[in-house]
Amino acid sequence: MEYQEIIDRLKRIVDLPIHPIPEEALSKVRQRYYARHSRSAALYTKAREIIPGGVEHNLSLEKPFPITMDRAKGYRMWDIDGNEYVDYLMSGAPIILGHHYAPLDDKIIELIREKGPSTGCTSEYEILAAQEIIKHVPNVEMVRFLQSGTESVMAALRIARIYTQKNKIIKIGGSYHGWSDQVVYSLHVPGAGPLEAAGIPSDCFNGLVDVFPNDFEGLRKAFEENRDRGGIAAVIVEPVGGESGTHPVHPGWNRTIRKLCDEYRALLIFDEVVTGFRLGMGGAQKYFNVDADIVVFGKIIAHGYPAAGGIGGRKDIMALCSGVGSIGQKAYIGGTLSANPISTAACYYALRLMEEHDAVRKAADFADRLTEQMNDLFSTRKDLPFFAFNFGPIIHYETTGMLAVSVNHPDPLNEIMTRRHTAQDYQMVMIDQGIFTLAGSRMYTCMQHDPEALDRTLKAWEYTLSLIPE
Ligand SMILES: Cc1ncc(COP(=O)(O)O)c(C=O)c1O
Repeated sequence: MEYQEIIDRLKRIVDLPIHPIPEEALSKVRQRYYARHSRSAALYTKAREIIPGGVEHNLSLEKPFPITMDRAKGYRMWDIDGNEYVDYLMSGAPIILGHHYAPLDDKIIELIREKGPSTGCTSEYEILAAQEIIKHVPNVEMVRFLQSGTESVMAALRIARIYTQKNKIIKIGGSYHGWSDQVVYSLHVPGAGPLEAAGIPSDCFNGLVDVFPNDFEGLRKAFEENRDRGGIAAVIVEPVGGESGTHPVHPGWNRTIRKLCDEYRALLIFDEVVTGFRLGMGGAQKYFNVDADIVVFGKIIAHGYPAAGGIGGRKDIMALCSGVGSIGQKAYIGGTLSANPISTAACYYALRLMEEHDAVRKAADFADRLTEQMNDLFSTRKDLPFFAFNFGPIIHYETTGMLAVSVNHPDPLNEIMTRRHTAQDYQMVMIDQGIFTLAGSRMYTCMQHDPEALDRTLKAWEYTLSLIPE
């Protein structure tokens, strides 16, 4: 779907009232949900005593309670009560070959059995993994592995400041770059500012310039206004738009940022925690045909194995990462378990397997089909403004437009929460029908999703739509 159509449709959704499922139908689903998930419910009660909020993963905050998952294989997951799901969470994006993919898992199991998990010294896997990344990703000549996307963003910003000798970072509203102090700003909704920054000293944002997505004029202004106020060291973007395309990019946006970065001698940082190796083996740079100076990698590079992250870029930039004998002149970057053998071996083997099986293309082809058929189904209900769009194997579906509500709405928080509750109700129905998505608005696909998965997904949607009165 073209950018303008997405924007127009999003606007239409937020201009229209929402379509809640009537309480009578909802309570039947809720009762069934409780009955089918009794062990998850019991574990949640226990978890709430010892885990804040009763859940460690934001991505599994389902309503009325989170499902405790037991195992996964291919595109399927099974919960602790034995219910089976078609999974579109894909561990929050990293799974592209499919869950529990034996040719990958066997390599890691063999590594642990024969060599042990880590020594604290360099292993050959980090070189193999770095070579594999460099082979595929444009403008990456060197790689430094880290343990998460959050850490990798911190490293990228630090290096950009040293390289340019400038101070400020432009962040685009609604984008997510992890939870380090300087980037928890305007999350989810563009213009939200420090709404979710409790506990972060406001000084941390002195070096941050918040620009609205696709605001070409605002972007140039930000560069110009900060020319004599520390200067712009870098622009960091999610290349498909904030929150992995929830706020989709205008087709000219990344290219314009590139041009302005060149004009004002700033670096362009592509945060590819979700897009790297998911949009394609070359990531967003190839997808958009735009060069980045620093690429941030995350969970995908270890394909679901823990401690995954890293940054890559040209040699002159990457040389600014700390190394032996470089006190004070380089960015202090570290992490005891960064580049451990398990994560780097997982990276090396996963990338090779993905290339061998043309995994991204298969996942993207499925996503194209599913998006099209979901839209066909939604269009049978002329009274509902629902629609779906995708960037390769990243699908978004919009039902209530909860994150498209403007901060200028007379009561934005209330409006967002009301729309969110209804989206969560739809999500509960989908889970009840055996379909697992991300936050009730996003679906990641893998190379193993097949016609049966598609059929089950459409049937679940048919059922969900049947509960919404015409
Ligand atoms: C675009 C983006 N950047 C950074 C992060 C943070 O990565 P991590 O959760 O590994 O710290 C995420 C997490 O989802 C992300 O989507």
